[in-house]
Amino acid sequence: MTEAGKRYSTISILLHWLIAALVLVQILLISAHDATEGPMSREFVQIHKSVGLAVLLLTLFRIGWRVANPPPALPATMKPWEKALSGTVHVLFYVALILLPLTGWAASSAMRREIVWFGLFNWPLLPVGGGRETAGALMDLHGIAVKTVYGLVALHVIGALKHQFIDRDTVLGRMVPFLARRP
Ligand code: HEM
Ligand code: HEM
Repeated sequence: MTEAGKRYSTISILLHWLIAALVLVQILLISAHDATEGPMSREFVQIHKSVGLAVLLLTLFRIGWRVANPPPALPATMKPWEKALSGTVHVLFYVALILLPLTGWAASSAMRREIVWFGLFNWPLLPVGGGRETAGALMDLHGIAVKTVYGLVALHVIGALKHQFIDRDTVLGRMVPFLARRP
């Protein structure tokens, strides 16, 4: 098989889909928080914080894994601007997947709100002061990072569909294990 016909490593594929699923879970948890009241509603935010911090750890591990296991070469049929755009979207994804949990973590820290990670232990707070005002500014950044992720997902999915149905190349199969490999 040519280099361009190869897939990402199994660990990279698992991390890709696990993190994508957890981002979706995060949005569902916030919707559940918005739709409920009282202790139940606060519990959804607690779980949101724990899952978000897990995404931070998984993303840091993923970046380390990627450095040690670079992806196979892209198809030679891809134009330089397509490679540049896809690379930029991927880098921005990593930046957003770090900034999102970091801003949430920093906002909770500014409010001195305890984070009990999945009920197991107290997650350390960051040395961020400033109380409500700082927390509000950090949550604004959290919201901007979320919107950035939405925009990136849209570009990313349009790109994936273009590869699969217009270019009809091997790109989607690099990340979707059950797709038939194309020569
Ligand atoms: C992948 C990670 C994360 C994603 C995708 C995510 C996503 C979101 C979204 C979509 C909202 C609603 C924003 C809005 O209504 O404008 C939100 C709110 C919030 N997030 Fe996150 N978040 C993540 C990580 C975190 C972390 C790590 C923390 C804290 C440790 C956190 C704390 C919060 C809080 C406190 C809110 C406001 C909840 C409320 O309305 O009271 N988030 N997040
Ligand atoms: C929240 C959702 C998602 C996130 C955060 C995300 C993030 C990423 C990132 C960071 C990469 C780059 C991997 C690397 O080389 O380091 C990537 C690659 C990829 N993603 Fe996603 N992704 C998401 C959803 C999706 C969806 C829904 C699809 C399919 C429709 C998809 C298909 C792909 C494919 C095919 C690649 C490999 C591209 C290549 O070969 O260069 N992703 N994704």
